[in-house]
Amino acid sequence: MLGSNRPGGRAAGTKADPVTTPVLDLYGDEFRSRPHEVLASLREQGWWAQSPVGPAVLRHEPVQTLLGMRQLRTPGVDFLALQGITDGPLVETMRSFLLNADGEDHQRLRRLVSKAFTVRRVRDFRPVVRSCADELIAAMAGTDRADFVAAFAEPYSLRMLCAFVGIPEGDSAQVNGWAHDVGLIFGLSVAEHAGRIEAAVHSLNLFIDELIEARRRAPGPDLLSALILAEESGELLDDAELRAMVITMLSAGQGTVQFQLSQAVATFLAYPEQWRLLADRPDLAANAAEEVVRFCPSALLGVPRIAKSDVELHGTVFPAGTCLLPITGSANRDKAVFPRAGTFDIRREPTAQLTFGGGIHYCLGAALARVELQEALPRLAAGLRELSAAGEAEWLAPTEAVYGPVRLPVSYLAVQT
Ligand code: HEM
Repeated sequence: MLGSNRPGGRAAGTKADPVTTPVLDLYGDEFRSRPHEVLASLREQGWWAQSPVGPAVLRHEPVQTLLGMRQLRTPGVDFLALQGITDGPLVETMRSFLLNADGEDHQRLRRLVSKAFTVRRVRDFRPVVRSCADELIAAMAGTDRADFVAAFAEPYSLRMLCAFVGIPEGDSAQVNGWAHDVGLIFGLSVAEHAGRIEAAVHSLNLFIDELIEARRRAPGPDLLSALILAEESGELLDDAELRAMVITMLSAGQGTVQFQLSQAVATFLAYPEQWRLLADRPDLAANAAEEVVRFCPSALLGVPRIAKSDVELHGTVFPAGTCLLPITGSANRDKAVFPRAGTFDIRREPTAQLTFGGGIHYCLGAALARVELQEALPRLAAGLRELSAAGEAEWLAPTEAVYGPVRLPVSYLAVQT
């Protein structure tokens, strides 16, 4: 969730010795091709490394501490400012996302949205998720090979998010296109894409306005209807907040799950005995989902934080304004916390993985993501036996907002379950 930015922003002025502090070359070829190995080697050398974006924190305990610190905030508009964009509609859009709110504003929005995004709503949604997984696996069973991303990970994550939020199925492809264009706001070339991003925000806003009207007239079992009704001390979300919340869900809840699933399958390809185990032991579904999220997270780098005031960690002072990277994907493989940390094992008991972040911004959709993984993985393992790679996979760079394969050709023996 770093965003593909290369902000080159304010480097950490710390009291650490710059000669002995290891360096994480986020944009180098080695990190691009073997991110976990690079992080493992740096983690051995120390608890943080200097990166082009700012100090990257690598071990579990300091990452967890940092995520919970109130003196830090998410970067929000800072990444735009570093690209020369300091006002206008893009800044307004960036500000409107829940992830970029801070202090009382964040507290109020989070309280209101949590009234709608409840454990019960997610639990009631599970049968819908299950039947979508069954349907897509049945379609895959018509052949013996497929690109897993196109055949399953993308349609599943998109259909489930739209159904949960309340976007009509017929509109999901169009809405996904707009959400993708809005997502460019977290990228490296925002100025270049400004027109496209603004057009997508405009179209999405018009679309969501109509949907809000429709749900006001006839509420459904979806999140949007519940958000319209969510009330806290007589306060409601206004229309602009409702629009921003829907856009937030669309940008935070689709790619993350899609890439989590495609990375999971890429990992199982390297551990075929684990795939067989899951096929035989569907009772391991929850452990498997948790292990996938720990071992190969789609949010590999986590969300950066900016120090609002000087921050001290393990005797090192990071001055106000420093951009710190709590690298959750590295913390998840810290051997001080996880025995056999570098081994993928779905029998592992649920762990203290940090993929969903922590503190006030802890992922709002974690329960939904878990349900989607828990329903999909054992069904896939049981329905697609003898899974193996059937061509070259194509991966995003680990510095993108999400990480994982965009193309994953696989072959399998389809089995009726
Ligand atoms: C495997 C899937 C997912 C991963 C890995 C993931 C990861 C994350 C991370 C790392 C954060 C920031 C936490 C922090 O920095 O402390 C976050 C926040 C958030 N996520 Fe997720 N997420 C996933 C799925 C979802 C889904 C399905 C939804 C909604 C439908 C969602 C909605 C959100 C929202 C709204 C926030 C902002 C919360 C806030 O700022 O208060 N996420 N997620």
